[in-house]
Order: sequence, then C-alpha cells, then structure tokens
Amino acid sequence: MERIDFILNGKSVSCEVEGDEVLLYTLRVRFRITSVKEGCGIGECGTCTVLIDDEPHYSCLTLSTKISGHDVKTVEFLSLNGNLHPLQEAFIKAGAVQCGFCTPGMLLSAYSLLLKGKKLDIQGIKEAISGNLCRCTGYQQIVEAIKDAAENGKFGGEGNGRKVEKRRSPPEGKGIKEILDMLYEKEDGRIIAGGTDLLVKARKKGVYNDYIDVTSINGLKGIREEDGRVIIGATTTHGEIQRDPIITGKVKSLSIACGLIGSPQIRNMGTIGGNIINASPAADSIPPLLVHDGVCILESKEGIREVPLSEFVVAPYETQLGKKEILTAIKVLPLNGYREGYIKVAKRAALAIARLSIAYAIKEKDGIIEDVRLAIGSCTPMPFRAYDGEGYLKGKSRDESTIAQGIKSIIDGIVDKSGMRPSYVYKLPVLMGLLSDILGGSYAH
Ligand SMILES: Cc1cc2nc3c(=O)[nH]c(=O)nc-3n(C[C@H](O)[C@H](O)[C@H](O)COP(=O)(O)OP(=O)(O)OC[C@H]3O[C@@H](n4cnc5c(N)ncnc54)[C@H](O)[C@@H]3O)c2cc1C
Ligand code: FES
Ligand code: FES
Repeated sequence: MERIDFILNGKSVSCEVEGDEVLLYTLRVRFRITSVKEGCGIGECGTCTVLIDDEPHYSCLTLSTKISGHDVKTVEFLSLNGNLHPLQEAFIKAGAVQCGFCTPGMLLSAYSLLLKGKKLDIQGIKEAISGNLCRCTGYQQIVEAIKDAAENGKFGGEGNGRKVEKRRSPPEGKGIKEILDMLYEKEDGRIIAGGTDLLVKARKKGVYNDYIDVTSINGLKGIREEDGRVIIGATTTHGEIQRDPIITGKVKSLSIACGLIGSPQIRNMGTIGGNIINASPAADSIPPLLVHDGVCILESKEGIREVPLSEFVVAPYETQLGKKEILTAIKVLPLNGYREGYIKVAKRAALAIARLSIAYAIKEKDGIIEDVRLAIGSCTPMPFRAYDGEGYLKGKSRDESTIAQGIKSIIDGIVDKSGMRPSYVYKLPVLMGLLSDILGGSYAH
C-alpha cells in the first residue's frame, strides 16, 4: 500500500492505495463518491471522467498513486450548499439530462472548457465533450446547455463562490537513475506512462503489474530545440504536443496527428513515448515522426543509445527496446518552408483507430518538387516511409504524369513490402486518391 495526499473537491484528503489501484476505485470505494461511474473501464465512454488540475481525465485508466499533490474534482464540486451550479441548471433547462448516466462526466468536460474562458463555438463544444458518450443521444440539448451557460453569463467560475484549497505541488520527481534501479531490482517491474494502452491490456487480461511510473522522472517531459533538432521528452502528452508552438511551427504533421488521437481525456493522459513503444500499426504519432527522420533516445545502466525510428519498430507491437531500458526522448528534424500535414481515415471523428493515415511534407520551387517526405500508417504491418516513391518524385516538375508515376512507385513499394493483403482492395484506391490530392496540391492543411 502507498499513502497518497491530494485535493478532492477543494479539500485536502489522504488515503492508502494499492500500487495497481485506479482512481475510479479509490473515489467510489474509499471516498464513496458514486457520481464517478464505470461504464466500459477501458477509456471509451467517459462516465468515469474527473478533472485533474482542471483537465478531464478518465479515472478508470489513472493509477491512484499518480495523483498525490494534484487537484481532483468530481461533479460534487459544482453544487454549493445544496444549490446547483448554473451549468447544472442550464442542463436541466435544456432537457440535456435523460437517464443521467453520462451527465456527471459531461458536466465536468463542459466545466473544464468554460474555465478556460475562451470564446465558444459549436465545434469547440462538440470537441470538448467528444470523449463522453451519451447512450440516450441527447447531444443537441447538451451542446445547447453548454452554449447557454457560456453565453448568458451563467458560469460561476472556479469554486462557484466557495473557498477552495489551493492545489498542492506534486511530490518531487525522481531521477532517471532511481527509476533504472527500480527496473533492475523489480523482476516483474513494468514501465507505465499515461497507462492508456497498458491499463486497457491489464484490464482485458486481468493481470497485475508492479508498475514503475516514468512520468515521475524529472526532465522527461517537454519540448526543446537543440543543435538543429527538436527534442520531445518521452512523457510529453499528445495534448501538450498538439498545442506546443515549436511543434505547430516546425513539426506540423505531428501536431495535427496528436490532435486526432482518442479524445481530450486520452490526449491529456497518453504520451508520445507510450505511443512509440506500443508500436501499433495504427499509432498516429509514428508516420509524422518518420517524415521528420525521428530518432529514439534510449537509456539503461549500460549507457545511452540512439536508434532511428525507422529501425526501432521491428514488427507490429514490437520494438528494439531492451528489457531494462527506458525511452527518454525522440529527436526530430524540424522542417521549414514545407507544405505539411496529416490525414487520418477513421470510422468517426473521435475515439477511432486509423484505418489508413498519411503524413506528408513537400517542398517546391517554381513547380519543381525539391523534397518530398511521405509516411503511411495502418496499411503495411508497420508504418511505411515511401523512400522509393520519394526518390522518384524528387527533382521532377509537378505534373500529372510525374504524380501518376510517383503514386505507382509508392503503391509498388507497399505491395513489395507486405504482399497483397485482403484490406488492400479498399485501402489502396483510397490511398491513391489521397496521394493524388496531396501531391497535386489540392489538399492543404
Ligand atoms: C479510448 C482510447 C483511444 C485511443 N485512441 C488512439 C488514437 O486515436 N491513436 C493512437 O495512436 N493511439 C490511441 N490510443 C492508444 C494510446 O492512447 C496511445 O498509444 C498512447 O500514446 C499510449 O501512451 P501511454 O503513455 O498511455 O502509454 P502506457 O499505456 O503507459 O504504455 C504503453 C507501453 O509503452 C511502455 N512505455 C511507456 N513509456 C515508456 C518509456 N518512456 N520507456 C519505455 N517504455 C515505455 C509501457 O511499458 C507499455 O508497454 C487510444 C487508447 C484508448 C484507450
Ligand atoms: S469507464 Fe468508460 S471511460 Fe472510464
Ligand atoms: S443521458 Fe442517458 S447516457 Fe446521456
């Protein structure tokens, strides 16, 4: 058991938790807060949403040991002395509550959005609640209620007029040496970052892990420029990458890709390091990282080594990571003056795995393709950088026959790599259409 201290709904609390206990359990069982519900238990429904430091998170995929020193809010925070919060009143007025199962999570996602104080549009509201599913499908009324609360000055702001304790500072982080020592000592030790892959698998398989939290390592989070490269710390979340000015300016396809991962909750939790190590063929961060010549920086007691990402992923869900090694960062080449983007083909806008994805960066001068970089995900068993097709296109004028021949070279490269897979019957025509738009210049981000 481990002792944790945190702020819960404005008050300091503490309790003992198990090493693999999730916050959903801690809140429901140890604090008897039953507004936080378990729907799916694997990050797909949003009924367990809580705010951690005012940002929505799924409590079913948050280890309780992570929340020491943080501020946790559940829907109980909103009402004051038995009086509902204006946002709750707006939900009732708009008829936005039917069975009520999704309502606490919806309210918290909406509250977090309103706290940011930004001018709201319908798209922004839909995006903010995209990680919360309503089985009664009352979305129209929910969106109206949030809009109403924002527009008519009905938002009470933080604390809703009550005195709240200030957020405590999280405990001092650990050094990488301390975490490597734990990794060497614990036979069953399993590295965890955001937990959005690992805890889903643990839950599905019903396994226990002795978790070693790399998000507690000092200096593993954040983005900086060094010696002409952009260094992204392994525990930087997708949400942080999506918004970072260095990434939006110089690694644009990665910013777009991270903004399309999961839902706001998943983007606040999942890290780039976890996405790379999980090595799913559909991982959204990998194609843009390949386009930017990503290099993985790995550390163990034996020292530090660097491995190009194109060699690091060796098979679906398999990388070159050593048993006692940590991914500390990924180093990428910034690209200036490129037309760059990321396209994800998926069944729906949020909470969907890519059926096909393309990251691209193209530099042209006077109609000549000076440089072109293309990486394709969710097609071949591992994300594919189209070096042959790029080689054909480079230095040629951008006309119809060059584009057609370039696309043929890319498709040939894919079939050479993986053979003709059953899914190619529909994937290859879609890919050809998208490549034609991208290379022809009609697809611009
Ligand atoms: C509902 C839902 C929707 C999702 N949608 C998407 C999506 O649209 N696109 C997408 O690409 N992914 C998606 N994912 C998958 C997941 O969110 C991402 O892969 C995420 O980036 C994983 O990061 P994490 O920090 O949560 O990893 P964790 O679950 O903590 O770890 C994943 C793996 O990486 C290892 N690991 C983590 N960090 C390190 C490190 N620094 N060094 C060594 N090993 C490490 C762990 O041991 C584990 O094996 C989704 C997941 C869920 C539950
Ligand atoms: S219970 Fe469904 S997202 Fe957590
Ligand atoms: S009101 Fe029933 S699930 Fe949303």
